[in-house]
Amino acid sequence: MIGRLNHVAIAVKDLAKASAVYKDALGAKVGAPMAQPEHGVTVVFIELPNTKIELLEPLGETSPIAKFLEKSPDGGIHHVCYEVDDIIAARDQLKSQGARVLGDGTPKIGAHGKPVLFLHPKDFCGTLVELEQV
Ligand code: CO
Repeated sequence: MIGRLNHVAIAVKDLAKASAVYKDALGAKVGAPMAQPEHGVTVVFIELPNTKIELLEPLGETSPIAKFLEKSPDGGIHHVCYEVDDIIAARDQLKSQGARVLGDGTPKIGAHGKPVLFLHPKDFCGTLVELEQV
């Protein structure tokens, strides 16, 4: 069902500092910060030859990554995003197998302007999984 790895998301407390690590130390192509108030994060995309890295910094008081950063103050891998052809078909198949879809199960428009869903880490090897329809 899943296709390519679309991105790996890394939550950080300081987006400028994290961007500099990727740009200066690792020599990656780092994009400009984009505020996404509807998702409670500011995002920086890093283009790698075969995938992307998504740096996430909390935005606002109720950011969904605030708790994560409390537990991992140095930052850490927050989720992985896999591509699917049909997000509704993927959701329905996963739900029929007992997997938990976060929220109300309705795809939201994600950082790339495409429909996304998140799957419960407890059902996927302790890792938050994002599905993105491409
Ligand atoms: Co993501």
